Amino acid sequence: MPSSDNPSVGLVGLGNLGTAIANLVTTNCCEVIGWEFDAAVVEEINGQHTNTRFLPGIVLSPSLRATTDVRQVFDGTSIVFLAIPARFIRPTVQPVVKAGLVRPNTVIVNMAKGIDVDTGLTAFQTTERLFPDNPCVMLSGPSIANEFARGMPTVVMLAGSSNADLMRVSRVLDTRHFRTRFSRDTVGVELGGLLKNIYAIGLGLFDGKGITSLNFRAVYLTIALEEMTRIGVAMGAQAETFAYLAGMGDLLATSLSGQSHNRHLGELLSQGSDLASIQQEMGVLPEGYGTLRIALNIAEKLHVSLPLAKGLLDVINGRADAEGFIFSFIRDFVED
Ligand SMILES: NC(=O)c1ccc[n+]([C@@H]2O[C@H](COP(=O)([O-])OP(=O)(O)OC[C@H]3O[C@@H](n4cnc5c(N)ncnc54)[C@H](O)[C@@H]3O)[C@@H](O)[C@H]2O)c1
Repeated sequence: MPSSDNPSVGLVGLGNLGTAIANLVTTNCCEVIGWEFDAAVVEEINGQHTNTRFLPGIVLSPSLRATTDVRQVFDGTSIVFLAIPARFIRPTVQPVVKAGLVRPNTVIVNMAKGIDVDTGLTAFQTTERLFPDNPCVMLSGPSIANEFARGMPTVVMLAGSSNADLMRVSRVLDTRHFRTRFSRDTVGVELGGLLKNIYAIGLGLFDGKGITSLNFRAVYLTIALEEMTRIGVAMGAQAETFAYLAGMGDLLATSLSGQSHNRHLGELLSQGSDLASIQQEMGVLPEGYGTLRIALNIAEKLHVSLPLAKGLLDVINGRADAEGFIFSFIRDFVED
């Protein structure tokens, strides 16, 4: 049986992030068994050690094995990473939990940044409910997979209730170019990663309209961080978490990245595409859109005002135009 000194690692979802993390772990310490929904991806990883669909241009370690049988991911592993969008976590993993195949000591690390729109639960809440007997850790922060997969310097947050669990996870992740920092604020670390997707859509929308002024970006991102902090604190997070990697760091990386799915959603909307055609083009609608609607509902219940997020939803739904929204946003901001 593997000990914490010699962990064996499982991963659910060999998509963009999952493949990059799995490969990082294999080059760092140990073998990884990864589940993937797409059988063609599984075949390619096992046969050719590449994943051209989700992580093109990277040669993967032979120590990464892929499977379409999710039970194998939990068989004898001491750490399991979850790297699928929030709404797929429950249907993918619940059968394994119900079958009693998860060892109580296995650390479950959630990396999804989203809300399951069917249950209203965040990805980490879903994880904690699915695995009530396991230590659960939230990984978040500025971690664009295509970058750290190519050795670009990256620092992420690991949040959990015990330092020992966080140490177990950091040991399989930390390399010269990929580092982890610890936090006890699981709520704040998750909400930072989740809420910034909303504002990344917005920046994509404005950039797509050609409103690329640095002055505007600076005021926009400042107000976005203020709104994230306000709703986050009302939901139980610590304010200082948002001023660090999981808040400001991730907001900057995602909003300014040409590779962000959420930002790209905004760009497509600015070109006049509707949500149905965007879903068809992108395969899966980026999580920020669902998060935006849910965050506004929660804000209303908690009596928190999010004028920027509300304005973005109006623009997305065609109730306001982007230019008009920007100038009323600046006017109201100055008049406050
Ligand atoms: N890509 C990044 O740089 C990055 C960074 C940080 C966090 N994240 C978060 O990681 C999560 C995954 O993002 P990604 O960019 O890797 O996505 P992706 O689109 O590259 O991969 C999606 C994954 O979901 C799987 N999937 C698709 N349909 C499914 C279904 N019906 N049932 C189960 N699984 C299904 C895919 O096979 C794939 O493994 C998201 O929550 C995202 O916010 C991504």
